Amino acid sequence: MCGIIGYIGKEKSKPVLINGLKALEYRGYDSAGIAIPTNNKVEVRKSVGQVKVLEKSLANGNDFNGHLGIGHTRWATHGSPSEANAHPHRDCLGRVFVVHNGIIENYKELKGYLQNQGHNFLSETDTEVVPHLIENFLNSGKDFDTALFDTLKMIKGAYALAIIDAKNPEILYAAKLSSPLVIGVGSGENFLASDPSALVGKTKDVIYLNDGEIAKIKQNNISITNLEKQETPFEIVRLEWDLEQAQKGDFPHFMLKEIFEGPEVVRSAFRGRIKSEENLVKLGGLEQVANELKQVKRLLILACGTSYYAGLVGEYLFEEIAKLPTEVHFASEFCYRNEPFDKGTAVIAISQSGETADTLSAIQKSKKHGLMTIGIVNTVGSTIARETEAGVYNHAGPEIGVASTKAFLSQLTILAMMAIYLSKDKSSTKVLLEELEKIPEKIKIILTQSAKLEKLAEKYKDYENFLFVGRRYNYPVALEGALKLKEISYIHAEGYGAGEMKHGPIAMISQNFPTMAIVPQNSVSEKMFSNLEEIKARKGPIFAIATEGDEKILELANDIFYIPKTIELFEPLLTVVPLQLLAYYIGTKRGFDVDKPRNLAKSVTVE
Ligand code: F6R
Repeated sequence: MCGIIGYIGKEKSKPVLINGLKALEYRGYDSAGIAIPTNNKVEVRKSVGQVKVLEKSLANGNDFNGHLGIGHTRWATHGSPSEANAHPHRDCLGRVFVVHNGIIENYKELKGYLQNQGHNFLSETDTEVVPHLIENFLNSGKDFDTALFDTLKMIKGAYALAIIDAKNPEILYAAKLSSPLVIGVGSGENFLASDPSALVGKTKDVIYLNDGEIAKIKQNNISITNLEKQETPFEIVRLEWDLEQAQKGDFPHFMLKEIFEGPEVVRSAFRGRIKSEENLVKLGGLEQVANELKQVKRLLILACGTSYYAGLVGEYLFEEIAKLPTEVHFASEFCYRNEPFDKGTAVIAISQSGETADTLSAIQKSKKHGLMTIGIVNTVGSTIARETEAGVYNHAGPEIGVASTKAFLSQLTILAMMAIYLSKDKSSTKVLLEELEKIPEKIKIILTQSAKLEKLAEKYKDYENFLFVGRRYNYPVALEGALKLKEISYIHAEGYGAGEMKHGPIAMISQNFPTMAIVPQNSVSEKMFSNLEEIKARKGPIFAIATEGDEKILELANDIFYIPKTIELFEPLLTVVPLQLLAYYIGTKRGFDVDKPRNLAKSVTVE
């Protein structure tokens, strides 16, 4: 969703801001803008559409020459995508300039109050109340810092703010509440961003701002205080991600690059954490709660979207391997549940970005009920990583493509390791770990056959409906396959447990309604074959993901993609890969920008 970039330092800020905004594009946005103090005036430029439109409009002229600046990519919430609604927003006199991520819930009251005081508003946004409120306090004789602090105390909701005071262009102000903000620490320069990926190539040293903190960032100095103006200590954290990981390299899209990172992503998730020869899973991030975890009687997995589907696979894994009753909930629905909570329950929150608002509020609710919270998070230092008591990082590197692919594989790997870690019966641990170690090579075998999927995508790309079916471990994969296809190709696709087909969806089957069947040879393949017979009898085209060497499937499916054999519990790590590739190829063949699907944002920071 919206992105923030800020800069103060030795360089001219314009190119730094534009490059930062480009790095934030993957989050999803519909307009962009920057503000740069230049020669006693703050220059502002905004545009609707892509950052390159903004960049082009800034190509000529010397009017954006300052060394301080703020920039923003906006994903419309209050008011349509337009120049007027794009950030930065300003006060009446042109002293205060603000970019904002989050939602100001009481903006209507504040706006009414400010309008009564004579403030003139230029946009429909909630954000615009911020510069006007600061101005209002300045008008009453307060200094800038006090005006800012008093403003923040009046705002209800969530904010990450970057602010410029035109009268003091040596300071970049930042404030955070429930919306991420990170300071990049450089040499003779400092940065601000809503997402560390905007800082890649600039600095690896960052400070994660905490809720209720305000930063005054100068070229060579950073100070952070709380809302009571007391200095708060901060820690500089070193980022592991490098420039290459955040670039496409030779791949036409991030999505394809990230699918091809699958083998390495699985390996990175288990590297240093499993020792098959010693029957051992060592999850350092859980050590501090290890004793408590041993007492846990029930698990609750909370997540959204693809991470939720990974959680559904986790449900099967925890019950099968660790014999722990497990439930999975959409984080966005969890807040409406009034179930009696038991202290013997531990919550596992899964999130690639670590910033998903729904997941965050589900964690907060769990904590209020005294439940232990554990994170499976990819983004180091993100809010969910910090809000949970303990956790396991994915180490998958930045996922830039909006449709989540490699994060899913990494989440599955961690869930499998966690299930083995929590299991009291270690008799099958060795077999499981040895097989897990083989998974990267098996994914590689699938990837080397991507050309076959590209060809099949040509055949299937013009259908407007798809059914995805699987059973047991591959039921969540059916859901995820359908989600991938609809997200990036805008084809209607539904995922079902194959057993549910006869209870309704089979009514849709015809020669124009193909089925993607996930049917590897396993404990449920016979039942899957019966379901496919039913589809075939109704002339529905069938595309099957099957185990190499399976000949029976030849009688049922119109097209088959073979995957290597693995144990049933780990099948999702293989079966999802051809579905990701198929969605990618269908999306690109239909002419869409698969890295930035319409209406979607990478980091969903509103509920
Ligand atoms: C789908 C997708 C989304 C995310 C969901 C949760 O391709 O990317 O469904 O999985 O928004 O995001 P995280 O994992 O960042 O909490």
